Amino acid sequence: MDRLLEKIEQLKGERNAVILAHNYQPGEIQDLADFCGDSLGLSIEASKTAAEVIVFCGVRFMAETAAILSPDKVVLLPEKTAGCPMADMITAEQLRQLKSKYPDAIVVCYVNSTAGVKAESDYCCTSSNAVAVVESLPSDKKILFVPDRNLGAFVAERTGRDIELWPGYCTTHVCITEDDINKAKEKWPDAIVMSHPECTEPVRKMSDELLSTSQMLKFVKKNSAKRYIVGTEKGIIHALKKENPDAEYIPATERAICPNMKKITIDKVIASLEELKERIVVEEEIRIRARKSLDRMVEILPSD
Ligand code: 13P
Ligand code: SF4
Repeated sequence: MDRLLEKIEQLKGERNAVILAHNYQPGEIQDLADFCGDSLGLSIEASKTAAEVIVFCGVRFMAETAAILSPDKVVLLPEKTAGCPMADMITAEQLRQLKSKYPDAIVVCYVNSTAGVKAESDYCCTSSNAVAVVESLPSDKKILFVPDRNLGAFVAERTGRDIELWPGYCTTHVCITEDDINKAKEKWPDAIVMSHPECTEPVRKMSDELLSTSQMLKFVKKNSAKRYIVGTEKGIIHALKKENPDAEYIPATERAICPNMKKITIDKVIASLEELKERIVVEEEIRIRARKSLDRMVEILPSD
């Protein structure tokens, strides 16, 4: 293991590379990364890094976002098949058709979307700033929210805005059921239930806190509770333990695993740095349009 980590350090130096990892990555990948974070934090980090090469340990839309923000850098995804099923639940063509039905609406797309969909959108958002982004929009305007119906419904609940939802969803978060939360609460009645807004409505209703992954990390840092039931992808528990090792973290279900996030391995990170693969490039015409929706997002930070 030490030998592999040394190899990564050496290659990073040779390539002038930075390694970014999402909070759902396997623990050993989080540990070797230069920066771990949620989608918003990683986008900001990708846009300001001085490195020439960005190795993105996450899924394709995240690396694509980095390539949109940093076209002069080499952006690498260590496993080319690491995609996000939710991002593929709407195409640019489907969004164009939706827009033609509501020509006066403002389109907000979750960052978990393809570059083509971002290019068709007015604003991009992540789970940590979705409410702030929608609140910043003129109150008389209808909003089309794609592709996550759960995050979109959460934003509608928080803002009271008129939002047309696209029926996309996260195949991992919908594995967390009402029954899972009920059972966990019965067993640990003193625990705080923290869930991600990608969860279904019954799970959201039963949760004490609805937070993005980085908001969860901040929450356990400042909270004195001893036990948390975690309603999101299990990889976050590694990061939570680092942030506040004294508390206990109970996954709402062992099924909440994103198989795509788990495709990244140390060997693949090494191969990625050695062979500069899988390089993620976004066609320039799409990149310029997608960049506008991302720039508007990066300007609107969450209030917490
Ligand atoms: P955040 O880390 O932004 O909360 O996103 C969760 C997610 O599902 C990313 O794919
Ligand atoms: Fe996509 Fe869900 Fe995996 Fe996030 S956890 S990458 S939304 S499938």
